[in-house]
Amino acid sequence: MKYLIIPVLFSLNIYSQKVYQVIDKKRFEKHANKLDLHSIRILKESDKLLLVETSEYNITKFSDIIHEKEFVCGAGSTFFDEQSAINTMNSSQRLKGINSILMDYSISKQSIINPMISKISESHFKKTIGELSSLYSRYFRSPTGVDGSEWILNKWRKITKSRSDAEVLLFHHPWSQPSVVAKLKGKSEKIIVIGGHLDSKNYTQSVGHAPGADDDASGIATMTEVLKVLVESNYQPEHTLVFVGYAAEEDGLLGSADYVNYVKDQNLEVLGVIQMDMTLYNNIDDKIYLVTDFTNSAQNGFVKDLIIEYIGQDRYAETECGYGCSDHASWTNLGYPSSFPFESSFSGANQSIHTTGDTLEKVNGNVDKGLKFIKLGIAFMVELDK
Ligand code: BES
Ligand code: ZN
Repeated sequence: MKYLIIPVLFSLNIYSQKVYQVIDKKRFEKHANKLDLHSIRILKESDKLLLVETSEYNITKFSDIIHEKEFVCGAGSTFFDEQSAINTMNSSQRLKGINSILMDYSISKQSIINPMISKISESHFKKTIGELSSLYSRYFRSPTGVDGSEWILNKWRKITKSRSDAEVLLFHHPWSQPSVVAKLKGKSEKIIVIGGHLDSKNYTQSVGHAPGADDDASGIATMTEVLKVLVESNYQPEHTLVFVGYAAEEDGLLGSADYVNYVKDQNLEVLGVIQMDMTLYNNIDDKIYLVTDFTNSAQNGFVKDLIIEYIGQDRYAETECGYGCSDHASWTNLGYPSSFPFESSFSGANQSIHTTGDTLEKVNGNVDKGLKFIKLGIAFMVELDK
C-alpha cells in the first residue's frame, strides 16, 4: 500500500506546485469566475498582459476553459520561477525579438541547397510521422510522454552516428518529459535553431488518446528529415546547427520557455530560429503561410524570399495567430529572431488537432505539404549559415 501512496502524493505535490504565468489580460478577466481565485495572485500588470502566481492545477483548468469556449486555448507562457516570467512580461525584449535585424539575409547558396533537396525521402518522412503518432499519447503528463522523447533521441542518434561533431542529448525540465536537442557543431558557437514540439494533447481528456500526427509529429518529422539530409550531404556548418524537440508545449510553451531561458543564461548568440509546428494538412492550397505576429519582421522577409526561391513564386501567404500560439513565441519573448511558417491560414486550421482524429489517415497519407517545409527547413539552416 505504502508503495501506491507515495507516487500519488508525489504527483499531487507537483500538481499543486507554484507556477508563474504570463497571460492575456482580457481572456483571463472573461473567465476568472470559473477559477479558484484564492490560489491566484496577480503580481504584475501591463496593458494587455497579466503575470499571475498560481498552481499548475489552475493553469490546466484555465487552458481547458479557454479551449472549450474559444476553440483556441492560448493560455500563455508558464514558468517555474518568477524571474523568467518577469522577463517575458518585459515588452522591450519582445519588441527586440520582433524588430531586430541581425543578419545578412541574402540568398546565395542554390548550388549547395538544390542537391540537398533532391535527397529528401518522402517515405522516411511519412514513417516518422506514423511511428510517433502510433504512441497512445505524447502528453507531458501521460505515462507514454517520456517514450516520445526517447524515440526521438534514438532516431536522431542513429541519423548522426557517423558524425563526430554531432551531439544528441535529453534536456531535462522540472517535470518528467524531457526536450531533445541535437547539435551539428560548427566552427563558431553561434547557433541557428530549428524546433518543433514533441508533445501532443487530447484537449477534451488530457490523458486520453492523442496521436498528434499533424500537431506536431509532422514538425518533428520535418526537422528529422532536415537533419538526415544535412548529414547525408556531409554538410560542415560554419555555425552550430541546433535541432530542438520541445517538451510540454501544449500546456503553455513550458519546454521552450525553459530551454530559451537556458540559452539566455549561457549567453549563446542566436542567429535565427524557425518553428515547425503543423506541416501536414493540405486542405486549402499548397502554400506556406508565414505567421506575422510574435515573429521577427526582418527574418520573416528572408523566409518569404526562401519560399519564393526554393518552393515557388506563388507558394507564399501570410497569417496571424493573435497570441503566442507556439514555441516561436518563447524565443521572441526573450528578444531572439524567430519565424513560424504554418500549413494553412489560422482560420482554416486543421479542426482535428487535439483530438483522436489527428492522424495520417486524415490527410489520406498525402505528405506533399510536409515536403515543402523540409525544403524550407534545409534552406533556412544553410542560407543563414554564413
Ligand atoms: N499547434 C498549435 C498552435 C496552432 C493551432 C497554431 C492552430 C495555428 C492554428 C499548438 O500546439 C497549440 O495548441 N497551442 C496552444 C497555445 C499554447 C500557448 C498552449 C493553442 O493554440 O491552443
Ligand atoms: Zn502544435
